[in-house]
Amino acid sequence: MSSIVLFGPPGAGKGTQAQRIMDSTGLPQVSTGDMLRAAVAAGTPTGMEAKNYMESGQLVPDEVIINLIRDRVQDTDASNGVMFDGFPRTVAQAEALAEITEVSHVIAIEVPDGRIVERICGRYTCGDCSAVFHDTFNPSNVEGVCDSCGGNDFKRRADDNANTVLSRLSAYHEQTSPLAEWYDQRGIFFRIDGDRAIDEITEDILRALK
Ligand code: AP5
Repeated sequence: MSSIVLFGPPGAGKGTQAQRIMDSTGLPQVSTGDMLRAAVAAGTPTGMEAKNYMESGQLVPDEVIINLIRDRVQDTDASNGVMFDGFPRTVAQAEALAEITEVSHVIAIEVPDGRIVERICGRYTCGDCSAVFHDTFNPSNVEGVCDSCGGNDFKRRADDNANTVLSRLSAYHEQTSPLAEWYDQRGIFFRIDGDRAIDEITEDILRALK
């Protein structure tokens, strides 16, 4: 069993690319952000603990995240590995992950800070299938209708606003970016220029995974 990690700042395109490479890799997407939003919506103890951190753009405490991941990798669809999206985000999370599963590739989608706010503030997602769109850069083919599932229940995230994005970027630079060196030293860190067309990025990621 070998897993891969999609790494990068908020709005880099991790979720967008995860959905595009899922079929090629055969690995299920495991997004800690999606898991936490589901927990918040369901009002579980984990969701209640995570809510304030998420709304203010801070990282949720490591032990909460590590417990979520320990449980998730027990599911049958994870038996051949998974594609982590947004995890790990601290060295403590990476150390815990190393005990849980083998990681073969960490794909870093690199996007300059100056591009992040416009990406995040224009994002919307399908409430039925979680497909990701953008008002300008990646709109649905038919306005109001999801390209992937035909649904019409689009949503915007509570933390997708200019103020929270700045906190999320600070958290990324202070707590998450040191992981680049941690994984680089292990020879499994692959940098991809994420400031290009979505299709070109997908091609480069699939090439790096070969
Ligand atoms: P999470 O949900 O993981 O958010 P994030 O890392 O901030 O990442 P995003 O989902 O915002 O961006 P993305 O890289 O997936 O980009 P996307 O493909 O959507 O985390 C949310 C919160 O949960 C955190 O702040 C934290 O509180 C908590 N949390 C989660 N995991 C945690 C952990 N491990 N530890 C602690 N706390 C945790 O693309 C963005 C937009 O850009 C879209 O509109 C898309 O259409 C567009 N786009 C994509 N690619 C391109 C392109 N090439 N060109 C132009 N536009 C593009």
